[in-house]
Amino acid sequence: MRIILLGPPGAGKGTQAKSMSESLGIVHISSGDLLRDHQARGTELGSTARSYMQQGLLVPDELIIGMIQERIKLSDAEKGYVLDGFPRTVEQAGALEAALEKQGETIDRVANIRVSEEELIMRLGGRWICRHCQRPYHEVNAAPRKHGECDDCEGELYQREDDVPEAVSKRIKVFAEQTVPLIGYYNGKGNLVEVDGEGSIEDVRESLLSAVS
Ligand code: AP5
Repeated sequence: MRIILLGPPGAGKGTQAKSMSESLGIVHISSGDLLRDHQARGTELGSTARSYMQQGLLVPDELIIGMIQERIKLSDAEKGYVLDGFPRTVEQAGALEAALEKQGETIDRVANIRVSEEELIMRLGGRWICRHCQRPYHEVNAAPRKHGECDDCEGELYQREDDVPEAVSKRIKVFAEQTVPLIGYYNGKGNLVEVDGEGSIEDVRESLLSAVS
């Protein structure tokens, strides 16, 4: 099963993709996590991407598309995947479709997670992430058992440099301008499902699983 999670920054894509990949037995592929991994390893792609990410801008399509095309070819993606953060532009969606077509594959479902701007700002302002396994937490809504430490792997929790207010506003604006057109794109293809992302993490999880099954 190949699934795309669409939604603004802070909609819960990472939280839900991790849980869906465990429930459905498919891999979670996050373009943001892949870029942050490049940064941590000090690659050229990582350092180029960082200047865009810090400002809340999208990394150019030509850098992202190749990175994802390589990732979905790996053996752990054979059974399917949940794509989180990719595609984000119509150009990226077209490139993904062309790459899949070559292998006789398609995207099964695209779930658009809807959350109000006020809620997004509250979520991103209180988010902490595990440096080791990337699991997201929230200081109020999804607090770790032990302060500053991941429940799953005991990794250190940190706050992302693009979760500061100026970058968050920019990311929300960029989403509206460059990613919202994908909702119409996938609606036209007949595989879009809309999911209310404002319930509890557990409620949203149930809605998503029933929407994609
Ligand atoms: P990326 O890492 O993809 O960030 P994003 O899309 O902005 O999304 P986030 O990771 O901020 O939020 P999320 O929806 O995953 O929410 P989460 O589950 O963490 O991209 C970062 C940057 O990389 C981009 O700005 C761009 O520069 C670049 N980039 C990445 N992909 C790219 C691409 N394809 N093309 C070009 N550039 C690209 O949840 C948020 C918080 O809310 C957490 O604290 C969580 O605990 C909490 N929470 C989650 N669900 C709920 C709930 N139901 N109720 C209450 N709290 C909740």
